[in-house]
Parts: sequence; structure tokens; C-alpha cells
Amino acid sequence: MGVELREVTAATVRAICSLEVADEQRAYVAPVAVSIAQAHFEPTSVFRAVYAGDEPVGFILWRSGERPKSAYLWRFMVDKRHQGKGYARAAMEQAYAELRALGFDTVMTSVVRGQHSPLGFYLSLGFTEANETTPHGEWILRKTL
Ligand SMILES: CC(C)(COP(=O)(O)OP(=O)(O)OC[C@H]1O[C@@H](n2cnc3c(N)ncnc32)[C@H](O)[C@@H]1OP(=O)(O)O)[C@@H](O)C(=O)NCCC(=O)NCCS
Repeated sequence: MGVELREVTAATVRAICSLEVADEQRAYVAPVAVSIAQAHFEPTSVFRAVYAGDEPVGFILWRSGERPKSAYLWRFMVDKRHQGKGYARAAMEQAYAELRALGFDTVMTSVVRGQHSPLGFYLSLGFTEANETTPHGEWILRKTL
């Protein structure tokens, strides 16, 4: 169940970009390749591959949030073949530790609501609803680190 967050390298980028969610989840997260491309235009971005042993199983991207000491979880996914094994929960715990070490005290994210939404996942991890939406209509969630 243990996972590690590792840097994406020239040697691993193709394998990381081949990670994908289930068809019905596609409306909720951008493809990994798009996330990596977008990260290069946002200077505070940090992205990592999630590994279970030597196998890449997921991807996470965060950036600085609008409030001081707040990080914004921009993208997060676990490959469809590896969901339901506790990897996402474990990866978030690793991310909290990295974020705390970087001086952040809060993590925010935003989700699209709907049948296959990750909203319940974030609530089960202790995120709370801020009762606000983004300009794109995404529901904002926050968690104290
Ligand atoms: C959301 C996602 C990362 C969860 O991955 P996962 O590896 O299946 O999650 P885990 O196995 O670590 O589950 C952790 C807990 O969350 C719960 N959970 C997972 N997905 C859930 C969902 N969609 N709704 C409600 N609860 C959910 C699990 O039951 C589990 O609960 P438990 O620890 O009490 O047993 C994965 O479904 C995914 O990649 N979805 C598509 C992309 C996405 O929506 N990303 C987030 C938006 S950026």
C-alpha cells in the first residue's frame, strides 16, 4: 500500500503520460500530458509521479494557491488499473508531508460534481467544502495540513 512520489524524468515521461483514468472519469481531470505541458507555464508548479514499488500508478500536480501558505492541488489521478487499492489516499499523505516541508499550511482543490466525481474521495480524506465555486463552476474544497 506504500507509495512514493518521484520526479518525472526524460526516461519516465512517456510511461507517466500513458497513465489514464476510466472513460467515465475523463470529464473530471485533464490527460497527464496536458497537465505536464500546463505546469511549464505556471512557475510555482510541482508535479510528481506516484509509484507503487517500481510501477508508476498515478500523477499529482500542485501550485501555490491564492492565499499565503496555501497550496492548490491542480491535478491528481490514479490509473484506472490501480484504483481502489488505497494508492490515492497514500499518495495524498505523501503530498501533505512535502507541502508541510515547503511551508504550506493549507491545501485547496476544486472538483466538478457529478456521478463519477472525486468529491466523495476528498471528503473521505478530511477535505471540507468551502461553499464557494471557481469562475468555471468547480466546487472548492480545503484541508488544513
Ligand atoms: C479520485 C481517485 C484519485 C481515487 O483513487 P483510488 O486509488 O481509487 O483511491 P483510494 O483507493 O486511495 O481510496 C481512498 C478512499 O477514498 C474512497 N473513494 C475513492 N474514490 C471515491 C469516489 N469517487 N467517491 C467516494 N469515495 C471514493 C475509497 O473508497 C477509499 O475509502 P477508504 O479509505 O475509507 O476505504 C481516482 O478515482 C481517480 O484518479 N479519478 C479520476 C481523476 C480525478 O477525478 N481526479 C481528481 C480531480 S483532479
